[in-house]
Amino acid sequence: KILILDFGSQVTQLIARRVREAHVYCEIHPNDVSDDFVRQFAPKGIILSGSHGSTYEAHDLRAPQAVFELGVPVFGICYGMQTMANQLGGKVEWSDHREFGYAEVRAHGHTKLLEAIEDFSTAEGHGMLKVWMSHGDKVTGLPPGFKRMASTPSCEIAGMADEDRRFYAVQFHPEVTHTLKGRDMLNRFVLQICGAKPDWVMGDYIAEAVERIRQQVGDEEVILGLSGGVDSSVAAALIHRAIGDQLTCVFVDHGLLRLNEGHMVMEMFARNLGVKVVHVDASEQFMGHLQGVTDPEAKRKIIGREFVEVFQAEAKKLTNAKWLAQGTIYPDVIESAGGKTKKATTIKSHHNVGGLPETLGLKLLEPLRELFKDEVRELGVALGLPHEMVYRHPFPGPGLGVRILGEVKREYAELLRRADAIFIEELRATVDGPSGKSWYDLTSQAFAVFLPVKSVGVMGDGRTYDYVVALRAVQTSDFMTADWAELPYSLLKRVSGRIINEVRGINRVTYDVSSKPPATIEWE
Ligand code: XMP
Repeated sequence: KILILDFGSQVTQLIARRVREAHVYCEIHPNDVSDDFVRQFAPKGIILSGSHGSTYEAHDLRAPQAVFELGVPVFGICYGMQTMANQLGGKVEWSDHREFGYAEVRAHGHTKLLEAIEDFSTAEGHGMLKVWMSHGDKVTGLPPGFKRMASTPSCEIAGMADEDRRFYAVQFHPEVTHTLKGRDMLNRFVLQICGAKPDWVMGDYIAEAVERIRQQVGDEEVILGLSGGVDSSVAAALIHRAIGDQLTCVFVDHGLLRLNEGHMVMEMFARNLGVKVVHVDASEQFMGHLQGVTDPEAKRKIIGREFVEVFQAEAKKLTNAKWLAQGTIYPDVIESAGGKTKKATTIKSHHNVGGLPETLGLKLLEPLRELFKDEVRELGVALGLPHEMVYRHPFPGPGLGVRILGEVKREYAELLRRADAIFIEELRATVDGPSGKSWYDLTSQAFAVFLPVKSVGVMGDGRTYDYVVALRAVQTSDFMTADWAELPYSLLKRVSGRIINEVRGINRVTYDVSSKPPATIEWE
C-alpha cells in the first residue's frame, strides 16, 4: 500500500485517484502524523502532496522524518518537493507569490522516474514534458546525494532525484490531467519504483468502506435522505451492505419527481435490496406552499425549506438515529471549501440539506467523500445497483419545480412528467450508428420543460388550444458550460409525435438550441 501525506493541496485526492487507477491501494493522511504512525503503516512507498495556494504560513509544514528513514521510495510533489529538499539539507527559496500554469519542462539525465516518458524532444534531443507547474517557492540547492532531474527557464530545479535512496521530486503536478504524462509518472513510481502490486479493485474498496462504516457507527442507527439520484443511492447501498437494518432511508416525494420515480426507488431499495425505506408523500404540502409563487429563486427556497422540514419531522420519529448519512462526493467537498474563498456569484441557489445535522443533533456519515463521480458509479455497479440507475443524468433537487416555468401546479406537473418520460424513453431506445451508444448516454442531461402558454393547433377535425413543451438536451463535461445536443431529426420527430399524441393537453413541442452560457441548462 501507498501512503499519501497531505499538506493541504486542493488536488491531493487526485493523487489518490491516480494511484487507485493503477489498481494500487492507498490512504491519505495529514502531513503531521507521527513517526510511529508512518512506521506502523509500513508503506511500499510514500507520496508527499502539494500545499494550498498561499504557502506563506506553510513553510513549516514538515513530513515526519521517518518518511526519509524507512528505506522506501518517496515522491515529493510541488510543496512535497520543497519540504523534501528542506528536510534533507537542500536549499529552498520561499516566496509568498505563486503561479499555477502551463509549462514545458526539460528532463535531465536518465532517471528511473522519467526514463522514456516525454511529450516531445528538442532538436538537441532533450526530452520535454508538458506540465502544470506551480511557480513561486522553489528549490535552489540540491540536498546531498541528489541530482537534477528536470528544469524550466524560470525554475532551474524543477525536479530532483536521489536514485540510491529512491527519492524523487517534481515541482509540477503530475496528478492533474494538464500534465499530459503525469499518469505515466505516477504509475511508474507506484508500480515500478515502489513495486506495489496492481491488485486493488473496487470490490476491495467495498470491503474497506464497509469495515470503516461499521467501526464508525458501532451499533447506532443511521438515517439517510434517499433522492433516487446516483450519490444518495450508492451511499444507501453501501451503508446497507455495512450495517443492514441499522440504516433507515427517508424518501420524500415532493410531487415534483419524474414519472414512476417513487415506485422505482421503492422497488429497487425496499424490495430488491431489503433496505428500510420510509416513503413520505408530501406533495400536498409542497403544492400548497408553492401556490401563487412564480419567482424561480423563491420557488427553490420554498422547496428547499419544506424538504428540510419534512425530512426533519421524519428523522425525529426515528428516535434511535444518531447519524445522518449523506452522499457527499469529493467534488462537493472541494466546491464548498473553494466557495468560501472564491465567492462565486449565486446564479441559482442550489438546495442542499446543509445545517441539518446540527439541528437534529446527528453525527455526519459521508462514506463517498473521497470518491469522484465516475468512481461512485463504478462502486454502485460493484454493489449490484442496475447500470441504468447508476448512469443516470443528474436531476436537480427542486425537481420539476424548476422545469415548470412560473407557478407550479399539479396539473402542469402531471403533463410534464409524461412528456419527459416519453423523451427519456426515446433517447434510451435510439442508438447512434457510429458510436453504438444510445442518445441518452451520448447526452449529459436531457429533459422536458413545461411552458405555461397556450398555442393553437389542429387535431383531427378540431382546433386545439393547448400548452407547449420544450425539449432540452445538452452535452457537457462539467455542467459549467454546455452545448445543446445535435439530436437526430428523426428522433426529435418521434418524440414530438408521441408527446402530442399521447399527452392530452400539449399540442406543440419545441427544441431548445441555446448553449450555456449565455443560457443555463435548466430554464429557471
Ligand atoms: P444550470 O441550470 O445552472 O444547471 O446551468 C447546472 C446543473 O445544476 C443543476 N441544477 C440544480 N441542482 N438544485 C440542484 O440540486 C438546483 O436548484 C439546481 N439548479 C440547477 C442542473 O440540473 C444542472 O445539472
